[in-house]
Amino acid sequence: MKRVVILISGGGSNMVALCESMVRDHPARPVLVLANSEDAGGLRKAADMGIDTAVVDHRPFAGDRVAFEEKLIETIDPYTPDIICHAGFMRILTEHYVTHYAGRMLNIHPSLLPKYTGLNTHARALEAGDTEAGCTVHEVTALLDDGPILGQGTVPILPDDTPDTLASRVLKMEHQLYPAVLRRFAEGDKTQVTLRDPTLPISAHRA
Ligand code: GRF
Repeated sequence: MKRVVILISGGGSNMVALCESMVRDHPARPVLVLANSEDAGGLRKAADMGIDTAVVDHRPFAGDRVAFEEKLIETIDPYTPDIICHAGFMRILTEHYVTHYAGRMLNIHPSLLPKYTGLNTHARALEAGDTEAGCTVHEVTALLDDGPILGQGTVPILPDDTPDTLASRVLKMEHQLYPAVLRRFAEGDKTQVTLRDPTLPISAHRA
């Protein structure tokens, strides 16, 4: 049974979707939900699901990323994780942390990478006049929002979309994509997961 640690910074809706998927014949189980702020709403949700929680606040380590990451590692390693899911964990991680957990880390990013790495992905997609948007689950490497892609979920952009309406549509797709990728990853299968919102036109040229 693979042991999964989930890192969050906010409401943790992706964390909830992941934890709710790890049941019955699923090859993994959540063992810890860790947030970088005690205000993270996801902590209560995890506790209500009976999952251990921890907080490692990044602020006391202001500027010393490696010291913060050492505290993360010290808190995480007693749970002997096989997989670490970053789910809205909004801290940039250095080579130090990434090397320590190499091959075990997944992240979800709210764009169709390699488009729109970084922040404000939905506003940028709207600004660019894109007709589709989505989310990507990828392995974490030292480069921000880079790393081998394990899955993508595509949704339509509608004419009256705002960044908020698009974010909400993408978030629903995230909650489908991340659990699907985690299950495959836990089974040792890195075949890409490709999900498309059923309202999307079937575009012939897409594989
Ligand atoms: C999601 O949009 C995710 O793509 C991004 O941060 C948000 C996390 O939301 N990394 P939640 O905390 O999982 O609800």
